[in-house]
Amino acid sequence: MSKKLLLKDAHVEGIRYFDVYRKQGGYEALEKALKMTPEEILEEVKTSGLRGRGGAGFPTGLKWSFLAKPEGVPRHLVVNADESEPGTFKDRYLMEFLPHLLIEGMLISSYCLGSNTSYIYIRGEYSWIPDILEEAIEEARNAGFLGKNILGTGFDCEIYVQRGAGAYICGEETALLESLEGKRGNPRLKPPFPAVKGLWERPTVVNNVESIAAVVPIINITGAEYAKIGVGKSTGTKLISACGNINKPGVYEIDMTITVEEFIYSDEYCGGIKDGKRLKACIPGGSSVPIVPANLLLRTINGEPRYMNYESLADGGFATGTMMGSGGFIVLDEDQCVVEHTMTLARFYAHESCGQCTPCREGTPWMYKILKKIENGEGTMADIDLLWDIQRKIEGNTICPLGDAAAWPVAAAIRHFRDEFEWHVKNPELAKTQNYGLANY
Ligand code: NAI
Ligand code: SF4
Repeated sequence: MSKKLLLKDAHVEGIRYFDVYRKQGGYEALEKALKMTPEEILEEVKTSGLRGRGGAGFPTGLKWSFLAKPEGVPRHLVVNADESEPGTFKDRYLMEFLPHLLIEGMLISSYCLGSNTSYIYIRGEYSWIPDILEEAIEEARNAGFLGKNILGTGFDCEIYVQRGAGAYICGEETALLESLEGKRGNPRLKPPFPAVKGLWERPTVVNNVESIAAVVPIINITGAEYAKIGVGKSTGTKLISACGNINKPGVYEIDMTITVEEFIYSDEYCGGIKDGKRLKACIPGGSSVPIVPANLLLRTINGEPRYMNYESLADGGFATGTMMGSGGFIVLDEDQCVVEHTMTLARFYAHESCGQCTPCREGTPWMYKILKKIENGEGTMADIDLLWDIQRKIEGNTICPLGDAAAWPVAAAIRHFRDEFEWHVKNPELAKTQNYGLANY
């Protein structure tokens, strides 16, 4: 059984409220942290090996150490709660059921980074959660853990909750900052990174909800103990939101030493494929990461078991591996049509493109149109090659990663399921009415 650090108290009735959270040991990490120096906290976070849980897996301690500290210029912590990656809903769970864990993590992180004004930028569609967060903020303030002169230490910290307006692109950190500044959420060119020039051109750390929540157990148990959990550079625990054709969809905390097979089939996690069907493929890290067929999902190209961690999932690079991403684990059974699935994603990215750069603005709707043609039995073999060509021209040629995120699923689908695309072309009438199932292999 995986060790629980973030969700250990999730089952406790009323844990959303301050008194219950406190009774379970809540805010002890903040009390401990405020007796440490900011440099000591940074060292703990670095030692823990914590990697950004939003999707990129960038080392959190390293990002914090990049924060510029010019004299007299305020710094900010911004929590990215604009969780919009299809298949990803772990941050929603944390904020809805354990809001004080996030607030406590933010207070420790803000103290470490020297932020006296910190923000939570939350996805607009999570319409009921800002009230939960604001209630938790008020409770923390009333208990003396937030606001002016926290616990008499002289440290001041305010936390504000800002709602997004439903644009996926505002989860990209610089688009988020633009939106937080009251502007249209267009991504900025990087560098400069937010750590140097972020919110209102001030040094800013933007971190995912889960990353900031993880700071609480890191301080509680120490960075060194946290680093002992997991394997290699995949330290600590990771939340996985599992969905699709499985028996037990939900949010699971894993310690990154379990195999993908165990995660899918054991009763502790997904409980196997629904209705006893066969596993066809999986997108293990949210819609932006490459889809992998069952054989390469469970084993690497060398026949080794694949594990639920950053290194193992990526083993083999883009040709045979995939990515941990945000941990949005989407399972497809034998009856699912990869062409239809890829078309649905292409429609999403075309709709969410901000339109700033040509390859993404023009390429994403073009890919959607071709995929729709193929799915509807109106495609040609040349369309499959054209699709390949378009995704190649988008990847790496855009301002922000949305372009790559739109290209990779198309590339992986063609790479691993080309016969399925060709079946649609060769069987136009069947393609209109039937799905190309595993039985066709
Ligand atoms: P990135 O790799 O460009 O950056 C990661 C983080 O490290 C950023 O905060 C960046 O500012 C920082 N960083 C990198 N190099 C730096 C340097 N030299 N100096 C200072 N800071 C530096 O990736 P990005 O754009 O932040 O995230 C892309 C990922 O987001 C994708 O892999 C995707 O999986 C994920 N994603 C997650 C979503 C969700 O809902 N959770 C939605 C969409 C995408
Ligand atoms: Fe906008 Fe797409 Fe360019 Fe990102 S890649 S800046 S979403 S047009």
